[in-house]
Amino acid sequence: MIVLKLGGSVITVKDKPMTPRPEAIRRLAGEIAEAGAKLILIHGGGSYGHPVASRYGIAGGYRSENQLRGFAETHQAMVKLNTLIVEALIEAGVPAIGVPPSSLIITTDGRITKLELQVIRGMLEMGLTPVLYGDAVLDTRRGFTILSGDQLASRLAVELGAERLIYGVDVDGVYTKDPKRGRGKLLERVTPSTLKELETASPTAFDVTGGMKGKVEEALRAAEMGVEVVILNAMREGIILKALRGEAVRGSWVVFDADD
Ligand code: IPE
Repeated sequence: MIVLKLGGSVITVKDKPMTPRPEAIRRLAGEIAEAGAKLILIHGGGSYGHPVASRYGIAGGYRSENQLRGFAETHQAMVKLNTLIVEALIEAGVPAIGVPPSSLIITTDGRITKLELQVIRGMLEMGLTPVLYGDAVLDTRRGFTILSGDQLASRLAVELGAERLIYGVDVDGVYTKDPKRGRGKLLERVTPSTLKELETASPTAFDVTGGMKGKVEEALRAAEMGVEVVILNAMREGIILKALRGEAVRGSWVVFDADD
């Protein structure tokens, strides 16, 4: 079984609210269909979840009643994006089914502490492809928060014993510097010590939510538990198909090396 997380910037136009990338979604659905792997797909929020969540301060937790509308709107924005992904997959021939994380998960200070797996396991056994996403979820300390698709993907890969976890993003992998701004070099191997380098590199180097660093942290948790993890560029045609088939691809392989 493989867990594939598609970043929000791959499937949406990040700086235009509620704007999908229909061609990318269609192409990726085709590659997933062609690969025919047993799969859980997780997608990010991009320009759907992020702007609403940030407008209402959902990640920071409950402070006032008017945020409840924000919680509801954030979830609904994600449901809309999920519908686009699921429809493209069904169209391509994948029996995809949208599964709302907010109904299965509770976090404590942002970390998953309750996770209902029975339905997801049953769907996989049946041959269905569950499609989950980063979502607004209840949190035992904060009241509610935002659960990233990155954490969800890593946790599901560990809990369900996935052989591989693939993070598809809009750059070739993890760089020493933000590839969109400077001349960093692509790291083909990422270890816990890389994380320290990313921390000491400019803290604004990646995106506002600490995108790449957070992703590497989640990736390392799964790698530590024996999952093969790779971060690669899902904008490049055919790379997701290859990665799902287990073929060699350009990207950053995340390995947990205890002596590192
Ligand atoms: C965020 O999920 C979901 C919401 C804001 C509701 P992610 O953190 O996984 O999204 P991307 O991949 O960075 O867009």
